[in-house]
Amino acid sequence: METTVISTQPVPLHPGLPFLGNTLAFLRNPLGTLHTLQQNHARMVHLRIGGRNQYLVLKPEDAKHVLQENNRNYGRSPAFEVLKIFLGNGLLTSDGDFWRRQRRLAQPAFHRQKLAALTQTMIAESADWIDELKGHNPKEPVNVSQAFMDVTMRIVCKTLFGSDTTGKLDGLSTALDTLNYLANKRMLSPLKFPYAWPTPNNLRSKRARMQVDTFIYGLIEQRRKASEERDDLLGMLLSAEDEETGEGMSDQQLRDECVTIFSAGHETTAVSMAWTIHLLTNHPDVLARLKAESHSVLGDARTPAPEVFRGLTYTLQVVQESLRLYPPAWIMSRKAFNDDHIGFYTIPAGDTALVCPYLLHRDPANWPDPGRFDPDRFAPGGPKDSLHPYAYLPFGGGPRLCIGNQFALMEMQILLALFVRQFDLKAVPHQRIFPKPLITLRPNQSIWVTLN
Ligand code: HEM
Repeated sequence: METTVISTQPVPLHPGLPFLGNTLAFLRNPLGTLHTLQQNHARMVHLRIGGRNQYLVLKPEDAKHVLQENNRNYGRSPAFEVLKIFLGNGLLTSDGDFWRRQRRLAQPAFHRQKLAALTQTMIAESADWIDELKGHNPKEPVNVSQAFMDVTMRIVCKTLFGSDTTGKLDGLSTALDTLNYLANKRMLSPLKFPYAWPTPNNLRSKRARMQVDTFIYGLIEQRRKASEERDDLLGMLLSAEDEETGEGMSDQQLRDECVTIFSAGHETTAVSMAWTIHLLTNHPDVLARLKAESHSVLGDARTPAPEVFRGLTYTLQVVQESLRLYPPAWIMSRKAFNDDHIGFYTIPAGDTALVCPYLLHRDPANWPDPGRFDPDRFAPGGPKDSLHPYAYLPFGGGPRLCIGNQFALMEMQILLALFVRQFDLKAVPHQRIFPKPLITLRPNQSIWVTLN
């Protein structure tokens, strides 16, 4: 029998400390360390972080290999275990055949035609939010990080549960936000007490979980009894049936998907909006062009018709360029089931592959002067169009591409256009803002601006 011999070379190991490897460097300065790796390695580098072997791929072709071409060789890395406690077994945390079935069921709820129905809700919620902001004293700066967190949470709750949240939104949002906050905290903490232990954080999260579950299960029961279909996301998920088996989702599954969509769907968008405002207040020329577009495309209507927003081409470019510089999902990790051969290198079975949108988006080989904010990179026929598709991946890639990517882009265009149409923005002086890579890539502090 003929056997294929695969010639391999060891992946260059980034120097580190005995036992600790590269853990301290990553804890102290993750982004600086990543830049050093990009400068010193061509294709792949082997790291030892938290006692695990991790292989960072540096080229778009190899990111495509891991996320798309050989995706069946990869599953969720151990990092996702913490999220499971809070999110259950939803789209973000599940794997294999179970995930495939869930994705098939949920996908139609995010199709373009369905999105059109949700767009109306996004516009209405954004307009209410702008009205509230208009009530602020113009001399007092506004914390836009918090303001965008509030509005994206309202949008995701309304698009998920429709009018069923009326009057209950505050309690529900607070409970969902508590779960989200505690998941983040637990993920980052080196000391994780078992979830069964009655620590203050565990008790707090159980209370919040119970509140959320009571609400969601109650709603599911009510909706199952009612005969009419509703076009919010929960209605779409409730009516989803597997094309192959005709089966729908169980109540537990619906609950897990709702909490997942809530968590995955609001913080990322809010953080990206805050970054966008930061970039704009530092680039008055871009801001002026954006403002002009919002006035000419949207006119004066308080809630312009959904189709009008499609004309916001420069707004979309601004959003895309902001997601290039500050991709909220700055790094993605995958566990290899079997050895994976990439060129001369091998990612061994059981180890982790890392794909880092933050680095790929700042690779000078693809993005000249990568630190410069220039939305014209994304102009139709512009430089982005000639790049490898995986040189830009704020929403990931392959079968696990963010299911909410069109939702997010639409939401960000609506929010941004209505916001800059209404207000003149000015940064509060002397803020020293830099990226802080937590689960999402956040600014190191809240961003404050004055609105006139
Ligand atoms: C700017 C906003 C957003 C960014 C940057 C973003 C980014 C991402 C990325 C990179 C992934 C893939 C993670 C991986 O492969 O490990 C992902 C997955 C996911 N996102 Fe988003 N996302 C955003 C907004 C949203 C919204 C608005 C929703 C829902 C309304 C959403 C729901 C999800 C879900 C459910 C998954 C898991 C999909 C799966 O594995 O099948 N995201 N997101």
